Amino acid sequence: MSNIPLITIDGPSGVGKGTVSLRLAKHLGWHTLDSGAMYRVLALAAKHHNISDENALTHLAHTLKIHFAPLPDLSGTQVLLDGQDVSQVLRSESTGIAASKIAVLPAVRQALLARQRAFLQAPGLIADGRDMGTVVFPTASNKFFLTATCEERANRRYKQLKEKGIDAKLPNIITEIAERDKRDSTRTIAPLIAATDANIIETSNISIEKVVACILERMVPSTTGSL
Ligand code: C5P
Repeated sequence: MSNIPLITIDGPSGVGKGTVSLRLAKHLGWHTLDSGAMYRVLALAAKHHNISDENALTHLAHTLKIHFAPLPDLSGTQVLLDGQDVSQVLRSESTGIAASKIAVLPAVRQALLARQRAFLQAPGLIADGRDMGTVVFPTASNKFFLTATCEERANRRYKQLKEKGIDAKLPNIITEIAERDKRDSTRTIAPLIAATDANIIETSNISIEKVVACILERMVPSTTGSL
């Protein structure tokens, strides 16, 4: 049993979980776990080593050297894979799609489970992903599930890419997000679903600041994340 404070934030891709987690972490002074980044790093490493077989992927999931370091201004996380900074390539839609393809493999998920749970350290953790409240930290007392329409999430992604000067087409983004939602929600193991005891926040029409405020407001004082 652990009494380290814990907040889980789950939801579909592009809903803003990462930004909300970083803002909460800054406010509370807690650690973050971007579990999607783990699946993304694994997908990248598998590509580098030309691995697609489930056993080899599982071995990689156990042994891969991944290092997450918050940026000094806490605006994001730097991710090192075998000592190399992969933070940029990690965020591409193609890496997200590759990640969701390996995330359907039960042995890979099992291999990452202990690595994810090891992030629960004092003074507290904000863990975001698809199954943080259902599988990884099922006894967390503060579970949140963020939703937004596919169109709204695609619009947000489109704006982000444009701001970065990256050429993108909105209809393509809508299709990619819808396909990833479908794969994540229909897989047999740890599908994207709100825990029965999660607070659901529909974010289509509210700002990031409002989502953060809403989570802080709804947080129960005893933030015990026991396992
Ligand atoms: O959240 P993010 O878009 O970075 O996640 C990339 C992919 O990793 C997701 O589409 C999903 O398939 C997988 N994932 C998962 N479980 C998590 C986090 C991410 O299956 N807890």
